[in-house]
Amino acid sequence: MLRFSLLLAATWASLPARAQLRFGCSQLVTQRLDPLVTPGVISPHVHQIIGGNAFNLTMDTSLDVGSLATCTTCRFKEDKSNYWTAAMYFKHPNGTFFRVPQIPNHFVGETKGGMTVYYVQPGSQKVTAFPRGFRMIVGDPYLRTGVPSDPAKVGSWGLSFRCWDSSDPMGPSNTYPPGAGQYDTVHLPKKKCNGGIRSNILFPSCWDGKSTDSPNHSSHVAYPLGTVNANVGILGFTGTCPSTHPVRVPHVLYETYWDTARFNSMWPTDGSQPLVLSMGDPTGYGQHGDYLFGWEGDSLQRAMDKCRDGSGRPEACTELTVQTDAQINACVQKPLVDEKVEGEYIARLPGCNPLQYGPEPATMVESANCNAGPTLPGSQPTATAPTTTVVTPTPTPTTTVANPQPTAPQGPAIPKYGQCGGNGWTGSTTCVAGSTCIKLNEWYSQCQ
Ligand SMILES: *[C@@H]1O[C@H](CO)[C@@H](O)[C@H](O)[C@H]1NC(C)=O
Ligand SMILES: *[C@@H]1O[C@H](CO)[C@@H](O)[C@H](O)[C@H]1NC(C)=O
Ligand SMILES: *[C@@H]1O[C@H](CO)[C@@H](O)[C@H](O)[C@H]1NC(C)=O
Repeated sequence: MLRFSLLLAATWASLPARAQLRFGCSQLVTQRLDPLVTPGVISPHVHQIIGGNAFNLTMDTSLDVGSLATCTTCRFKEDKSNYWTAAMYFKHPNGTFFRVPQIPNHFVGETKGGMTVYYVQPGSQKVTAFPRGFRMIVGDPYLRTGVPSDPAKVGSWGLSFRCWDSSDPMGPSNTYPPGAGQYDTVHLPKKKCNGGIRSNILFPSCWDGKSTDSPNHSSHVAYPLGTVNANVGILGFTGTCPSTHPVRVPHVLYETYWDTARFNSMWPTDGSQPLVLSMGDPTGYGQHGDYLFGWEGDSLQRAMDKCRDGSGRPEACTELTVQTDAQINACVQKPLVDEKVEGEYIARLPGCNPLQYGPEPATMVESANCNAGPTLPGSQPTATAPTTTVVTPTPTPTTTVANPQPTAPQGPAIPKYGQCGGNGWTGSTTCVAGSTCIKLNEWYSQCQ
């Protein structure tokens, strides 16, 4: 802790006042599932997932994830949310792929794999915790190019990569604020990073106050307006919310520490960088993150109201229950998708995604029969020979394996925990039998 205090004194002293939670989470599972984008079916590419063990093939907004999960890989026992991103692979010069291991970030304890999660409350603005059923996505897995970032816009720096010169937490490439700075790029670093690479995934922190989700899982949230000070970075950014998305929610940031340095001696002799994201992205522009809220009851709101530690140390938040390393590392999920994705060199990226270099957007890969068909429990293995065909892009990617797509509940009655009112709400206000429409705030009422 002494070094931690020194670090804060040395590097963050000049930042504007803010409160935050910063905590490590171990790996829950790594597999080809994405209950937001491709519910009910195998996802086109691998994700690395952390958080509560209610993570599943489908996760309807009506589920109370906070009470369904029986354990979580995150530091706070109350946080049963799920957080996921693409995985990273090293492409060996001999053409095979090895999943790049994730290692604990600085000062998060002995987590196994996983990520560091932040819930930041910038300045003195009051933040509203996400409602039950809330989810969002940032980034686009099919992107293969980007415009040079405008430091004045926080959204330009939402997705970036930090190239660490060394693993020394006091070194300049570690202490520099994340965002608009000399150590971060919006594409994968093109040089060897001696200390590894950290992905930074910052979600929009302004909400429309109405919808727990939207068709593309993005349009119900927006980034704040205003200019980012490069010396302060995106964490201390305090811009105001646009009128379309007036409700300030926590600024959620994921940091993933990829142990890329272990592969530095095996780089191709032509100097090209050999790291790829699991959707066949060697550029990094397709980096994306998914968030599925699952805090128990009102625990996140209580933490936002009462935990005001500027450096976000978990033990400083007595409102919540801190778990030991042993407890979080004991929460693991067996993959539902039966295929090899890590721990050895594999011949092809899971889902058989070819590397697509852009700059045009990547095309969707029809991966149903890849590797003779990975299976989900209860499905029939496919008899077809392995094939990989590239088809034209579709707005909503879906692969076709196994179980039929579940349909959302029909009829006018809103399911339990669904939205039933609030300013501007035009949908039904009738809740299913056994639940009542409760006003949570002026923007949002929920069936409870
Ligand atoms: C996943 O969903 C299935 C079908 O609803 C259910 O049987 C199973 O228990 C769920 N698994 C978890 C981990 O919640
Ligand atoms: C590729 O190189 C790795 C690392 O040396 C090795 O383990 C693997 O067997 C090689 N695969 C092929 C197909 O040569
Ligand atoms: C989501 O949909 C909205 C409305 O159709 C659109 O304006 C927005 O650009 C989309 N966002 C993403 C990230 O696809």
